[in-house]
Amino acid sequence: MISKILTLGVAVLAVPYFTIAQPADVGALRKKALELITPIPDRMPGAEKDTHHQTALGKRLFFEKRLSMNGSQSCNSCHLIDNGRGGVDNQPTSPGAFGKRGGRNSPTVLNAGFQIAQFWDGRAESLEAQAKGPILNPIEMAMPNPAEALARLKADEVYVRDFKTAFPSDADPVTYDNLARAIAAFERTLITRDRFDDFLKGGDQALSEQERKGLHEFLTVGCTTCHNGPLIGGNAFKRLGILNPSPNLTDKGRIEVTKDEADEFVFKVPSLRNIALTGPYFHDGQHSQLAETVRDMAWLQLGQKLSSEQVSLIVAFLNSLSDKGRKVPQASVTGGTSGGMP
Ligand code: HEC
Ligand code: HEC
Repeated sequence: MISKILTLGVAVLAVPYFTIAQPADVGALRKKALELITPIPDRMPGAEKDTHHQTALGKRLFFEKRLSMNGSQSCNSCHLIDNGRGGVDNQPTSPGAFGKRGGRNSPTVLNAGFQIAQFWDGRAESLEAQAKGPILNPIEMAMPNPAEALARLKADEVYVRDFKTAFPSDADPVTYDNLARAIAAFERTLITRDRFDDFLKGGDQALSEQERKGLHEFLTVGCTTCHNGPLIGGNAFKRLGILNPSPNLTDKGRIEVTKDEADEFVFKVPSLRNIALTGPYFHDGQHSQLAETVRDMAWLQLGQKLSSEQVSLIVAFLNSLSDKGRKVPQASVTGGTSGGMP
């Protein structure tokens, strides 16, 4: 009797280890991954038309605080790309020029131009359309109108000269359209390179055994039904809470854009490139940790309760998606509450 219980106990304990099937071999794992995920291309759509004068002007505008009403904010205030940061501010929601917070987490600008649309709800169809928003948004950079932003740029003769060089065929080049065009051109240079792509391109040792197991889990559990393509996301809109409802139903998502009831709680599937650098997670920044985000995703979207081993393997894989050379000090990820999912 006692030995029977012991045997049973051992069998139960052993289950989690056996449910994680081992990838047969590295080549087969790569082949399986490549059916759903491809390396990030070398160039963003539209970049063929950008000149280096436009990207250089766009870079300066991206860091330009004079584009906010009180001179306190630039794009880089909420999308930090310098000092090896991941294109976000690592806050649940972002304080604007006058300290008021918007309702959504700031997504990364890295690789953004590869996506089907911009914003969590996809309301801007291009980087150009997106760039015009924050400058005039009252809780972001809070400029009263485009004319005021342009007047500040025109007062600076270096800007006047650089707009002329960037848009040589325009009689009056300092326009709001050209400002957005230049910022977008700069954003199209923000392409990241990671170890996972090295693996996809044939580097067997680019991922550790742990990370390869995590990739296998990611593919097997079904995360790739939504997170696929070169950005491992960014190419579709899906409801948050397909099999179990999300605990926060305040933000109705894409329905505000399309007015279509089927789009209630629908959000853009975020790219998972650089995900370890861009916490807190979800449109409302509700999770500060990647592990709880992964556990939630499996439960909300796939109706699965992952073991803690599965979660840590997937997190290990997600850590291989960070741009080489970029790193976010953990201490800078502020706020975000623990979700308490089962
Ligand atoms: C006060 C903080 C703040 C400032 C300043 C700001 N942004 Fe954002 N940005 C956000 C937030 C928050 C979102 C998400 C809003 C949403 O989805 O409704 C966002 C979204 C974006 C996106 C879409 C990314 C994606 O994956 O959907 C891009 C691109 C972007 N911002 C670029 C810029 C540029 C360029 C500037 C400067 C002209 C700028 N932002 C200024 C906070 C900010
Ligand atoms: C049915 C589609 C679907 C499936 C399946 C899915 N996701 Fe997601 N994922 C989404 C959507 C939509 C969001 C955006 C949630 C939001 O708006 O708050 C998201 C968000 C995330 C985020 C946070 C991204 C960010 O920038 O905040 C992570 C991490 C993530 N998913 C990982 C996973 C993992 C790991 C799996 C598999 C266990 C998975 N997802 C399965 C659709 C899906």
